[in-house]
Amino acid sequence: MLVAGIMTGTSVDAIDIATCDIESKGDRHTVSLRSFTSSPFLGDLRDLILRCLAGTATLQEMSDLPFELARGYAASLADHCSANDVHPELVAVHGQTIWHHPPVSTWQAGSGPALSALINLPVVSDFRSADLAVGGQGAPLVPIYDHAVYANDTINRVALNIGGMANMTVLVAGAPLDTLMAFDCGPGNVWMDHAARVTYGKSYDTNGSIARAGRVLRPMLAEMMSMPYFSMDPPKSTGRELFTTQELQRLVTKYSHPSSPLEDVLTTVTELTAWSIVDHVQRYAPSCQEVIVSGGGSQNTYLIERIAELSRESGSAWTISVDPLWAEKEAMAFAYLGWRSLHGLPGNVPSVTGAQRPVVLGTIARA
Ligand SMILES: Nc1ncnc2c1ncn2[C@@H]1O[C@H](COP(=O)(O)OP(=O)(O)O)[C@@H](O)[C@H]1O
Ligand SMILES: [Mg+2]
Repeated sequence: MLVAGIMTGTSVDAIDIATCDIESKGDRHTVSLRSFTSSPFLGDLRDLILRCLAGTATLQEMSDLPFELARGYAASLADHCSANDVHPELVAVHGQTIWHHPPVSTWQAGSGPALSALINLPVVSDFRSADLAVGGQGAPLVPIYDHAVYANDTINRVALNIGGMANMTVLVAGAPLDTLMAFDCGPGNVWMDHAARVTYGKSYDTNGSIARAGRVLRPMLAEMMSMPYFSMDPPKSTGRELFTTQELQRLVTKYSHPSSPLEDVLTTVTELTAWSIVDHVQRYAPSCQEVIVSGGGSQNTYLIERIAELSRESGSAWTISVDPLWAEKEAMAFAYLGWRSLHGLPGNVPSVTGAQRPVVLGTIARA
């Protein structure tokens, strides 16, 4: 079955679309990429999302958002399908996370019924609610895909995704799905992007070249490292609600003096991301041999170098490599999750999210 996955992550950088051929051979599933595009939000959509995220949107704008997203997704998908000559039979859409507040609520905006009506295809959406309702974090959901695609019988792996937030799936060699561990370890690009914006007016620090030029502000790093989220045990998941731009701004005002070089802030925030990743691998994947990294943060060469150096300094023996499908992975994972839902298969992993039981995720609109 050809399934399209549509992903818009916490970075709010692009609408990612992947179509995948998904096949079932007994209880083994294969997911192979057919086409992928990453396209910008058109018109005012990105600004509308940012106003909703900042809490400055009006009620009318909040109401408009799921519909504007559905229109944006529909337009991007139409372009994708004609440019690549693909004809998916099912669409899975993650939606745009506006608020993630486990165990109470989580909101991925984007109307599945509206999208389904616009494109005339069945659409699976709202993947996180059911897991949350049975006591889970509603996140991470990619681990069931990581297990199907990256688990190995002899090599202990970690699948690391550095998007707006950074999350990892611990894939112990040969371990069954129901023993899987995965969690968000903290911010990925979200604070680095904010620092790049306020200091250099750039949307991100390309290849980490600004951070590479600066020095770590040790007292600022120490205060960030002491945030309680980092020392919590899984299950845990986080988002922009905790790692807010206001909190970063407060830290910058407190620790960076007008005389200190601008790039030091970026170096410090990049160091925090690298530290939290290495720290979580050591704590929860001590026998790890191989970290496979995906997400836009995998393109930040300075960040990846700092991860490798910190792990060497701590005496760890794992290697880190960039996934050839670093950009495609999350959209592919949601295509797979949508396919599972259509077939009545659960998509959450209770050992990961903390849910009481496996549940079929999402809601299916068949306009
Ligand atoms: N060449 C690059 N150098 C540094 N960072 C990059 C590069 N390319 C992408 N990024 C980072 O990746 C982010 C997008 O990552 P992505 O995986 O799409 O996150 P999300 O899932 O949150 O949308 C950008 O905001 C940027 O921070
Ligand atoms: Mg993105």
